Amino acid sequence: MTPDLMEEGAKRAERVAALAAGAATESGGRQAGFSRPVVHGEVDTTHGRILYLEDVHVSFDGFKAINGLSLDIAPGELRCIIGPNGAGKTTMMDIITGKTRPDSGQVFFGSTIDLLRYREAEIAAMGIGRKFQKPTVFEHLSVFENLELALATDKRVRRSMVFTLTGEEKDRLGEVLETIHLSDSAGRLSGNLSHGQKQWLEIGMLLMQDPKLLLLDEPVAGMTDEETERTAQLFLSLKGKHSLVVVEHDMSFIRAISEKVTVLCDGSVLAEGTLDQVQADERVIEVYLGR
Ligand SMILES: Nc1ncnc2c1ncn2[C@@H]1O[C@H](COP(=O)(O)OP(=O)(O)OP(=O)(O)O)[C@@H](O)[C@H]1O
Ligand SMILES: [Mg+2]
Repeated sequence: MTPDLMEEGAKRAERVAALAAGAATESGGRQAGFSRPVVHGEVDTTHGRILYLEDVHVSFDGFKAINGLSLDIAPGELRCIIGPNGAGKTTMMDIITGKTRPDSGQVFFGSTIDLLRYREAEIAAMGIGRKFQKPTVFEHLSVFENLELALATDKRVRRSMVFTLTGEEKDRLGEVLETIHLSDSAGRLSGNLSHGQKQWLEIGMLLMQDPKLLLLDEPVAGMTDEETERTAQLFLSLKGKHSLVVVEHDMSFIRAISEKVTVLCDGSVLAEGTLDQVQADERVIEVYLGR
């Protein structure tokens, strides 16, 4: 999360509130289709999916980075995505989060929200949190202050940078601190945390906004073995409460957390199944795992 994105999120929240106020008829009138999906807590997962991509294509200067990608993620699922360098894993996340526009295809959040109609900050505000590889915490602030700031999609903070947490927000902050194993470090300066702890803090900042879907790109890169194990436990504890899409090259980590694994190659799905199933797949061995 970047300060820019937070700022945009705050503006977005204001626009959404104004729109919702304008849609005064019982059905929401002509604006219902626009205003309803972005109200937090209303993603339609009755068809058993939180995220749905169909036949998505993206080319960069003629190079097909994403080439007929289809994907279906169930609510509460923890999906692992693996595949060789350049397979399109990060580009896929760019598309879901609105950073990159596909040339064609469909991308839906739940059954009703067409993500291709929204901008990056709007998508973040809907409850899709993204963790980039490099931690981007505010190093000069404490762990507590970083988590506090993650709630700051609010004009109170933009005006003064000082605000009082409600009781509910305090409880959530405490819960998140425990979840990310940083309760004992709440007052510590974030810049003094280990690499792994910074990664957890950033995940905590995403959790403060209670995202429905979390996209995590190479979350354990650069972590010690112990930090990697703790991260596996963390992700397993998030599963069910949130839906997670995790891209990783670390196979022991994938083994620790995976149910269903999707193998991407050349911009589309090469194989899907349990880790054992995809590891035994000749095509996967050929392009990724090696002989
Ligand atoms: N904005 C862009 N402009 C041009 N080419 C791009 C752009 N973004 C991605 N690509 C290209 O698209 C392909 C897919 O890249 P992507 O970063 O999605 O792969 P990846 O699966 O995440 O790889 P890695 O495992 O190395 O992170 C690569 O060949 C990359 O160079
Ligand atoms: Mg990548």
